Amino acid sequence: MDESRMMKRYEVSGFEVWEYEEAGSTNTVAEQLPAGELKDKQVVLTWKQTQGRGQATNRWESAPGKNIAMTVIFRPERLEAGRQFAILMVGALGCLDFLRRYVDGVTVKWPNDIYVGDRKISGTLIEHRIGSMYVQTSFCGIGVNINQPEFLSDAPNPVSLFQLTGRELPLKQVLEELLECIGKRYEQLDRYEDLEHDFLANLYRSSGVYDWEDEQGAFRASIAGIDEYGQLILIDEDGKERIYAFKEVKYC
Ligand code: BTN
Repeated sequence: MDESRMMKRYEVSGFEVWEYEEAGSTNTVAEQLPAGELKDKQVVLTWKQTQGRGQATNRWESAPGKNIAMTVIFRPERLEAGRQFAILMVGALGCLDFLRRYVDGVTVKWPNDIYVGDRKISGTLIEHRIGSMYVQTSFCGIGVNINQPEFLSDAPNPVSLFQLTGRELPLKQVLEELLECIGKRYEQLDRYEDLEHDFLANLYRSSGVYDWEDEQGAFRASIAGIDEYGQLILIDEDGKERIYAFKEVKYC
């Protein structure tokens, strides 16, 4: 993104927001900023994201002027590389705290989707730069569906707050509240166990036996927890523990 297309810089809820008139992907813009310009609690935001990136090769649909599409940059002081999952929990729990102000039934679908019931309202795309031992910079790309009336892509079960409540929200107010919630969770960064506790307490399908699929095929299992690296621990119907990194297993 050409610097001249940047519109404004301003402060919201303790974050420095860099608002772009238009951006392909806020994650790409943020990652391409010179290292010397990256700050802790900086946000690259656009109201018109044209090439939103999702997990793997997925695209992220966001109608112009309707939703939140932003990348929150964190430069934590001493977050061990092995504990980088803490950043993901900060982003996910911050979104969850915000959404709970408006709707019931909000959960985190491991590792970082936010669901209302069985529908996805928010997705996160995180990329970290790691030094020798510590996380140097995390780019936490967050999309939250706020006022979008309908979805055109083939993404499974998308939903917006507007679809759930019938009410449009002012996006400036949403941004302020969402960043406030994320900022509060970031203050818990050095209390990994507290984040983990809240993450587990709010997991989608955290109790009960469900259908899953890994590269060996389908099976039924219940969630037993997450390990210190954020991997999902399942117990299958034979009582066997199965541990998965992101993308190694999917909910059916
Ligand atoms: C997913 O659920 O697959 C992740 C979606 C992440 C979307 C957000 S929108 C802001 C940021 N910029 C991007 O290009 N992607 C993330």
